[in-house]
Amino acid sequence: MTPDTVTITDNTTGKTIECPVYRGTYGPAVIDTKRLYSELGMFTLDPGFVTTASCRSAITFLDGDKGILLYRGYPIEQLAEHSYFLEVAYLLIYGDLPTARQMAEFDSHIREHSMVHEHLIKFYGGYRYDAHPMSIMVGVIGAMASYYHDTIDIYDQGDRDANALRILAKMPNIASKCYKYGVGQPFVYPNNALGYIENFMHMMFAQPSEPFVTNPVAIYALDLLFILHADHEQNASTSAVRLAGSTESNPYTCIAAGIATLWGRAHGGANEAVVHMLEEIQDIKNVRKYVDRAKDKNGSYRLMGFGHRVYKNYDPRAAIIRKACHAVLDAMGASAHRPMLEIAMELERIALEDDYFIERKLYPNVDFYSGIILKALEIPRRMYTVLFAIARTAGWLAQWMEMITDADFRIGRPRQIYIGSETRDYVPVAKRN
Ligand code: CMC
Repeated sequence: MTPDTVTITDNTTGKTIECPVYRGTYGPAVIDTKRLYSELGMFTLDPGFVTTASCRSAITFLDGDKGILLYRGYPIEQLAEHSYFLEVAYLLIYGDLPTARQMAEFDSHIREHSMVHEHLIKFYGGYRYDAHPMSIMVGVIGAMASYYHDTIDIYDQGDRDANALRILAKMPNIASKCYKYGVGQPFVYPNNALGYIENFMHMMFAQPSEPFVTNPVAIYALDLLFILHADHEQNASTSAVRLAGSTESNPYTCIAAGIATLWGRAHGGANEAVVHMLEEIQDIKNVRKYVDRAKDKNGSYRLMGFGHRVYKNYDPRAAIIRKACHAVLDAMGASAHRPMLEIAMELERIALEDDYFIERKLYPNVDFYSGIILKALEIPRRMYTVLFAIARTAGWLAQWMEMITDADFRIGRPRQIYIGSETRDYVPVAKRN
């Protein structure tokens, strides 16, 4: 066996194959098992894709043991400190940080495309007054495909760029309307004099009856959260985007697949669930009871915002948000939210000293502290995952674009172990007992 192959032997037949081993820039080596079926007649089984690399990617790297996260090679800590969301979106999509001119052009295109087709607005009226905004997001983004369906050639780079830009530009507008619909306020048109985050806040909170002034601390905090949520390699929603895209589906429906997948509590829906949990705990003195409940093997209760499939160390995004939390609450004068932050910190302290969490390497993840900031910014709770979706759209688009130009691009089609009945004959209903 050379260092670049792994030998796999079927002990029943004695047949052996050599599988190539690839090494990326960082991360574990990867065994190429493509020939397993053609040569040994076997599949691999990996429920939850715990050890399966689904693609080659040059976008994001994370080392879950060391708590490292890089976007295009740049450490998340540096981007959080020095960059801003739209620049990070450019970096993710195009691969390098933009020059001043490239950024000005990108920014100007994003502003130009902030409006949505007036007919699309009617779509919101079909939802129940109390619809969850994520369900509206899934539908409206999917509906956008109908406006552009015949003008997207996914194999044309110009078309891909134009539609990616269009989607990123319209996300804040579409998201703000989900909120406005729920609270019964008129939709607010974008103001292209404003930056991406500020325009989003304007569309969310402005009312025709009074002027709306954005708070720079709120813009800073939201921008930071958007940077931290922008991409996270092959997570569930990104894999859903890639799988949908692998069928040559258009990017609007791929993003709708991503939003649908993000919604669940095990993924993006956790930020909403964390605040619910912290409110339920109510007081520091109740924290231990909830930690004990999460440890109970007879129940299904879990601490929301804790644990991660890949991070077996502190999630670097959680560390950044935790630090920002104090500064944002102080700057916003949001002292009313301090008790919630204190409950969160106590929960973290108790959990991190507890053998159950230590043995399983369960640490706070990105969603643990983000809800506290969003609450202080007076973002309605049901919008938390929607905000995550706006930010992650940058990553989804980057991954979709990378996939289409990959030499290995083909339809995604996992296999299975069939464990159902053996072949049996149809029995007419009168003869069944
Ligand atoms: N509270 C209590 N126990 C937990 C938790 C938790 N939050 N998370 C995992 N465990 C236990 C789990 O019961 C299992 O124990 P055992 O080995 O005794 O059966 C062990 O830890 C391993 O858990 P797992 O379910 O096999 O791990 P996973 O990689 O399949 O799941 C996870 C990862 C994020 C879905 C899970 O940790 C979880 O449900 N966390 C709470 C929800 C959450 O915060 N999600 C946000 C994830 S980060 C943002 C994002 O991805 O969008």
